[in-house]
Amino acid sequence: MKNQLNNTILVTGGAGFIGSNFIVDWINAGLGTVINLDKLTYAGNLENLAEVKENPSHVFVHGDIGDRNLVAELLAKYRPYAVVNFAAESHVDRSIHGPEDFIQTNVVGTFHLLEEVRAYWQRLCEEKPSEFSNPDFRFLHVSTDEVYGTLSSSDPAFTETTPYAPNSPYSASKAASDHLVRAYYHTYHLPVVTTNCSNNYGPYHFPEKLIPLCLLNALAGKSLPIYGDGQQIRDWLYVKDHCSAIRRVLEAGQLGETYNVGGWNEKANIDVINILCEILNELKPKADGTKYQSQITFVKDRPGHDRRYAIDASKLERELNWKPAETFETGIRKTVLWYLEHQFWVNNVTSGEYRSWIDQQYTGRAA
Ligand code: NAD
Ligand code: DAU
Repeated sequence: MKNQLNNTILVTGGAGFIGSNFIVDWINAGLGTVINLDKLTYAGNLENLAEVKENPSHVFVHGDIGDRNLVAELLAKYRPYAVVNFAAESHVDRSIHGPEDFIQTNVVGTFHLLEEVRAYWQRLCEEKPSEFSNPDFRFLHVSTDEVYGTLSSSDPAFTETTPYAPNSPYSASKAASDHLVRAYYHTYHLPVVTTNCSNNYGPYHFPEKLIPLCLLNALAGKSLPIYGDGQQIRDWLYVKDHCSAIRRVLEAGQLGETYNVGGWNEKANIDVINILCEILNELKPKADGTKYQSQITFVKDRPGHDRRYAIDASKLERELNWKPAETFETGIRKTVLWYLEHQFWVNNVTSGEYRSWIDQQYTGRAA
């Protein structure tokens, strides 16, 4: 029990890539009950949660963060001591093709969620027994480094005070949600913390994103599409390290603060794909003796493509004593092995809606 609250958290978007990793780790560590509210969009997949399917500590609820009645009902019924908000539309390319879902979930959905959490928080404060201080509740909002915009090669990495300058509909919608969260702290004293993380990779990563897309294309003998000159830089973090950072911030983060999360792993896209190919050459050599690198194809660039992201995670390291466990080299090897060993998951995820997205996105994109 945390004050008069249950040992329960409400996680939104917990059937997606990061949320599912977070829930599995949480339950396996015996940290309490998780109520998982997920809309099951194309990116949500209950197979990501197969490991905790029979576990009574995981309660799945199919629904939208924008459904106020449902959110109110869940908060009243389960009395969680925290809400961790992963739910979002997350793919930059999709936001370029169709921004509306991004505004709807990332902005409007987060607003509705915040309103219901605020009402819940107010009720908790009103009903608290006199021997308790304010309930030990918090709302953790999971955000991205993309809200800070783009860096040149000589710029210092993003810190928590870097001004917001989002460049895609996705990052603009995440920036809007971050601002709402901030405003609810300053205006209503809602106990919030925000994390801004760099690019994740690892198990259950949906293969619309660079690493899993190229991994699966390589194994299928298809081309590995590299946008533009492939020199754009991303800062990579193994997903389990992102999850450990979120747990740490939930436990000890200062209310109203934001924390950058990253692994000091800046790499150009072409270098990432070369490393991936080298691991595959070693673990799964091609029958015809050629290297996977021969499948690399440069295609038309992403519109408005941010050149470089880099996260300065020193605040989180200094104040909360958090450090990532994986280097890029150890994390990417684990990731390749995981995909090689999870063909069933891969086959299910790469059917239906996924195939039509790939056709729409990559047909006619020769550079
Ligand atoms: P994802 O696309 O894999 O998963 C998103 C999940 O949210 C899915 O399960 C989906 O069904 C669910 N969802 C979407 N709209 C919803 C709604 N209206 N109501 C309830 N559920 C809904 O995303 P991800 O990569 O796991 O990212 C999770 C969060 O982390 C996002 O907020 C994203 O912005 C942030 N983030 C991601 C990365 C990354 O590299 N993937 C890095 C930093 C931050
Ligand atoms: O930085 C954090 C962000 O990382 C998260 O907020 C987003 O939710 C997440 O999707 C991710 O965004 P990116 O746009 O950086 O990830 P993506 O995997 O789509 O692309 C990584 C880089 O690879 C980017 O520079 C674009 C490039 N790319 C991507 C794809 C899909 C290619 O060159 N070819 C591709 O086919």
